[in-house]
Amino acid sequence: MNYENILVETRGRVGLITLNRPKALNALNDTLVDEIGHALDGFEADEGIGAIVITGSEKAFAAGADIGAMANFSYMDAYKGDYITRNWERVKTCRKPVIAAVAGFALGGGCELAMMCDMIIAADTAKFGQPEIKLGILPGAGGTQRLPRAVGKAKAMDLCLTARFMDATEAERAGLVARVVPADKMLDEALSAAETIAGYSLPVVMMIKESVNRAFEGSLNEGLLFERRVFHSAFALDDQKEGMAAFVEKRKPEFKHR
Ligand code: CAA
Repeated sequence: MNYENILVETRGRVGLITLNRPKALNALNDTLVDEIGHALDGFEADEGIGAIVITGSEKAFAAGADIGAMANFSYMDAYKGDYITRNWERVKTCRKPVIAAVAGFALGGGCELAMMCDMIIAADTAKFGQPEIKLGILPGAGGTQRLPRAVGKAKAMDLCLTARFMDATEAERAGLVARVVPADKMLDEALSAAETIAGYSLPVVMMIKESVNRAFEGSLNEGLLFERRVFHSAFALDDQKEGMAAFVEKRKPEFKHR
């Protein structure tokens, strides 16, 4: 498949998607988001892939949804076309873990795309923000929902209402970002984290992803119940037998379902 706006490659057991609209700072138009979905479909179906990394350029992970493409939208264009839900949600529904490797601007839909991923590894150059208010709109791809869950109400209000950007250090302190590394090491760090994850048992990786996501999506009691049920079901896996036997026998586990 030839993509217009992204580059797709594999590195070991990791699928790598690089957003590639440099002239528009990787602004997320429909074609680009469709292409991300198509690439994710391929990686999900590929048994050789255990984790996925989405990255951008040195200057921008993505500077938001494509403003030119939606500038003349009517309400009906947005509503009937199911704008955002139609294709962006594919990132959220991916069952394999997805790491956002962010350098430069992650603004508006760019920040929201990063937050749809399972964790963000940031370069020290990263800048996060939800500046939609300056365009006379509000975040539409989860910014008002995922940002407060990640950083709390105070900072989410600050970013969404003032449109100021948050640098990588502040983002890590606030809990948006898992790790901050020097810009020239950032992609290696993300690929190496992904490779580590891809070395574990895939069903267990998926169970953990689903369970952690429950913490964001429902009540504590619902989340705990869900976690307990999935935890119990892990004992049906031969990878659990192997993982624990390997620990007891002081050797490296050989997981079957990677
Ligand atoms: N959509 C379309 N084009 C964009 C874009 C976007 N979101 N962001 C940047 N670009 C384009 C610029 O128009 C410019 O194109 P030209 O060279 O053809 O003029 C090119 O990328 C480079 O941008 P700048 O010249 O502006 O670069 P800069 O370094 O001076 O500024 C920036 C960088 C601060 C990121 C600035 O480009 C900017 O503010 N971009 C818009 C950020 C934004 O508002 N994002 C939210 C979009 S709405 C949204 O995402 C809704 C949602 O929730 C889904």
